Amino acid sequence: MSSLPPQKLSSSRCSALVGDIAPPGDKSISHRSIMLGGIAEGTTTVRGLLEGEDVLSTIAALRAMGAKIHKNEQNIWHVTGVGAVGLQAPQQVMDVGNSGTSARLLIGLVAGKNFTARFTGDESLCKRPMRRVIEPLSQMGARFESANEKLPLSVMGAAHPTAISYTLPVASAQVKSAILLAGLGAEGVTTVVEPAPTRDHSENMLRGFGAVVTVEKRGDGADVISLVGKPCLKAQNISVPADPSSAAFPLVAALLCPGSRIILRGVGLNPRRAGLIEVLRMMGGSIVFENPRQEGGEPVADLIVSSSELSGVEVPAAHAPSMIDEYPILSVAASCAQGITRMRGLGELRVKESDRLSLMAQGLAQCGVKVEIEGDDLIVHGTGKPPQGGVTVETAMDHRIAMSFLVLGTRTDFPVSIDDGSFIATSFPSFVSMMNGLGAKIR
Ligand code: S3P
Repeated sequence: MSSLPPQKLSSSRCSALVGDIAPPGDKSISHRSIMLGGIAEGTTTVRGLLEGEDVLSTIAALRAMGAKIHKNEQNIWHVTGVGAVGLQAPQQVMDVGNSGTSARLLIGLVAGKNFTARFTGDESLCKRPMRRVIEPLSQMGARFESANEKLPLSVMGAAHPTAISYTLPVASAQVKSAILLAGLGAEGVTTVVEPAPTRDHSENMLRGFGAVVTVEKRGDGADVISLVGKPCLKAQNISVPADPSSAAFPLVAALLCPGSRIILRGVGLNPRRAGLIEVLRMMGGSIVFENPRQEGGEPVADLIVSSSELSGVEVPAAHAPSMIDEYPILSVAASCAQGITRMRGLGELRVKESDRLSLMAQGLAQCGVKVEIEGDDLIVHGTGKPPQGGVTVETAMDHRIAMSFLVLGTRTDFPVSIDDGSFIATSFPSFVSMMNGLGAKIR
């Protein structure tokens, strides 16, 4: 939860961005390392954990349910798990702040345990839909109490969860993960059918901890993910790669600011997360991969990013799951590119930390960019010149909206201000200092 007061920030045009940085650890992988470490047998070590507020919420929740979690002097996190049946009912309501991933995955975890837990969150999270997890988890035997299928809600976990086969109605890694986490407690095989591929960190990490998880491609292209219930999860040593969704902000800033050249170290390049890089390259962005390697079971590389003249592109709806969190920053890149960028099939953006579709369109228009929403598509008309800026935009408790407009301000004729930058701490606490270290002017 953002405990800080609203923090107005302003970003002014800067000259070239130059430097060599390691963006913070991957948020999705960090959450999962704490959760699986917390229910495994033994002590899991986690290097490079994202110490953002969202992950701190997950840590607090696992501690409240009995896991022992601490960081040593070398910044390595130690998670001593409670084992398959050791999780305890929390004594208090678990407040997971702004974090949808904490909420949905922890609800899944509790749904397969024989106790009740109550969850709440901040104003943004309490507006987000939870029906998408309530429905499958109810089929597994969990019961729920909530006013409107949103937080705050109570989960009465199932003592003997039923293994189900469930087809995801929305492309959501959070829903898939919630079902798999509940399925850990079920006798038999829990199956999730995924029509469009979403991030697979849960499947990969569950396998790493010793669960049997298989993935088969169906004739229609859907992935069928199967988890054998009641595995014995064993503690692991995990290295968290840098988050491609956080790296995206300095990356786009460097593409936009003439004369820039930056190196982003150890960025995760899981193909189900790397959609933005593919699209930026199609737009003409110079992004070179150096030293490709595996870290913590994920492909990573150092990215060398040089300023580039970008052109508008058409981004098909099928790209959305591999870059779902990157549309705000892509629309900033599009606003400085030459020509029209049409981003299709962005309905899910309406139910993120804010309604990102509306807020990006609104903020870009305020900055002088011609932008339209047509159905679920966002259309940005770039002129190849920097937009005007000179305004304060609303960020609605959304870290990615905040960072996107601060990146836009590195290029606009007049500074771009945001009403509140405090939520940046949920995913990228060092954002302002890292950007200013590269040469940005964010105050
Ligand atoms: C996440 C999945 C995505 C993403 C979120 C993190 C995850 O959400 O937007 O930031 O870690 O599983 P959805 O599952 O709602 O698409």
